[in-house]
Amino acid sequence: MNTPKQRDILVTSALPYANGSIHIGHMVEYIQTDIWTRFQRHRGHNVTWVWADDAHGTPIMLSAQKQGTTPEALIEKMKVEHEQDFTDFQLSFDNFHTTHSDENRQFVEKIYGRLRDGGHIAVRTIEQLYDPEADMFLPDRFVTGTCPKCKATDQYGDACESCGTTYDAAELLDPKSVVSGAAPITKESEQYFFTIENFDAMLREWTSGEHLQPEMRNKIQEWFEGGLQDWDISRNKPYWGFEIPDAPGKYFYVWMDAPIGYMGSHMHYLKGDQQAFDKYWNPDSSAELVHFIGIDIARFHTLCWPAMLEGAGYRKPTAVHCHGFLMVDGAKMSKSRGTFIKARTYLDHLQPDYLRYYYAAKLNNKVENIDLNLEDFVARVNSDLVGKIVNIASRCAGFIVKNFDATLASELPDNNLYAESVAASDSIATAFENREFGRAIREIIIQADAANQFIADEAPWALIKEPGRELQVQQICTLGINLFKNLVIYLKPVVPDIARQTEAFLNIDEFSWSDLQSPLLNHQINKFKPMITRLESKSIDAIVDASKEDLAATQITATAAGVAKSTDNGNLKTDPISEEIEFDDFAKIDLRVATIVAADHVEGADKLLQLTLDLGGEQRNVFAGIKSAYDPATLIGRQTVMVANLKPRKMRFGNSEGMVLAAGPGGSDLFILSPDNGAQAGMRVK
Ligand code: 2FM
Ligand code: ZN
Repeated sequence: MNTPKQRDILVTSALPYANGSIHIGHMVEYIQTDIWTRFQRHRGHNVTWVWADDAHGTPIMLSAQKQGTTPEALIEKMKVEHEQDFTDFQLSFDNFHTTHSDENRQFVEKIYGRLRDGGHIAVRTIEQLYDPEADMFLPDRFVTGTCPKCKATDQYGDACESCGTTYDAAELLDPKSVVSGAAPITKESEQYFFTIENFDAMLREWTSGEHLQPEMRNKIQEWFEGGLQDWDISRNKPYWGFEIPDAPGKYFYVWMDAPIGYMGSHMHYLKGDQQAFDKYWNPDSSAELVHFIGIDIARFHTLCWPAMLEGAGYRKPTAVHCHGFLMVDGAKMSKSRGTFIKARTYLDHLQPDYLRYYYAAKLNNKVENIDLNLEDFVARVNSDLVGKIVNIASRCAGFIVKNFDATLASELPDNNLYAESVAASDSIATAFENREFGRAIREIIIQADAANQFIADEAPWALIKEPGRELQVQQICTLGINLFKNLVIYLKPVVPDIARQTEAFLNIDEFSWSDLQSPLLNHQINKFKPMITRLESKSIDAIVDASKEDLAATQITATAAGVAKSTDNGNLKTDPISEEIEFDDFAKIDLRVATIVAADHVEGADKLLQLTLDLGGEQRNVFAGIKSAYDPATLIGRQTVMVANLKPRKMRFGNSEGMVLAAGPGGSDLFILSPDNGAQAGMRVK
């Protein structure tokens, strides 16, 4: 067999914003990147995976303000949390950096300087919305108002979520600043634009090649038809980012320095080795540069980014691979249904291989959404990983250990079956290479079915009872274990934990793809311990409950109207002044003064306290997400206001029979009650 040439591949995933936790939606992309990266390494290629936290922008500035901290402290804390989540999900990245780094600043300044010197930066005065109270220019998403077209209220300044129209923030009717609630005024300001149109010809050619998926190529044609607009890469102060060197008071827009963060992280990984860096980033580089991203950020990566690279004298990406979004049970992740699941919540209950396997089974190379169906998740993992893969080892290992001194036979009984398992290699490898992970899994499972069939047909458990059949049993089980070995070699990029445990069981250092060829013969193995156990539905229930608990903890914080709150995608939302309700709806809410007669920690809950509330005769059990703010002992005897007629909610810890009202920014500043002022328990508040 020819040894394929070793490829140098630099891989990136999209940079998560540094102001929100990682959730299982993010994990689709990171697991996709990891499987591909591990596969390439498994095949002997030289892969470096670098990425970073996306640490700049107004949402992060305002989040920090709101939390009474500095942006530096906030992004540092988030980076630790993110990196721990990634490590615990077994992601094999080489470097996770931050865009707020010296390396990144240097690259941003260099690229900007080269673009400016090349005549690709235009300075123009434009009118922008300005918050006269907060004294700041307002990005589109910081203005809400009524859609000029369909008149839907509470819409953002860039597009209407109700009718889909896009518009300028200045066109909104009855606009309000999300920061202060004030009506914005318009003010002139000088801004810096990257003239992408200068790269029109290059981009048309580049985007029509193999760098993109076919459906992306079509999509991009629509963008060309709309014309390539100059891109505003500057923001006025106050802004959290890098100041533009020749423009005091102006900052680089977060989307300018984010993709450059790939370079910053790479240089940080290389500890400043310019030569090693150039090998990947020079225009004539033969190394591959492969980006994994979501469809929502495709425009930046397929137009702005290649144009920036070209204009600044660097190479362009080899490939930009786009994926769709994660759905859970056929719908968008939902906080109230408990399907908005944080990576950490998942990890608190389950090992990563389950989800990694399920995502792999669902992923292909198209820009399609994938659905995590929770019932199917349990069924699939149990049927495939436990029932078809690990089961092979568990059926064969006992005989070898018990009867043959843990030693495999010196020959296989049926070389064809082993040869067939090796012959599947090319097709499985092609599927991994092309990111058709679902197809790879299907082909692996076909091999697993064949192995299970062989063992069922040969029935070593019956043969062992027949005198003189020992060698036959040893050979059958040796083949079974070797077929299992090959299955795990194929699956190693997907389920690294199972692979590691299999290596230990088979007494081998580390599998590589080339180990498919040679069966283990005359080789001593270790006692079998199951690498994975059945996935129980109750673990899923616990995850969903814990995610609802997260919600209870956030919902209870009544954020003051108009105070900005960042969301997972880094955009800023006012804590919604929800849809208007009729007075009659309001009148239905029965608010009562309640005395806290007991307060306890809840075992297994990070955020909840269990309160017993006395409503003047009647007692209620309520779980409240206020653990971060109160020691339960200090609550007993105090009074609070509760929603007394809220339908009881079943939680993992018991029924919650009402809701306590609270105000404050969260964390330890969460106030549920006034000191005892002698109000009578049970008294109506409205
Ligand atoms: O959309 C996002 O979550 C961005 N933080 C992605 C940035 S990717 C790259 F350009 F840096
Ligand atoms: Zn509208």
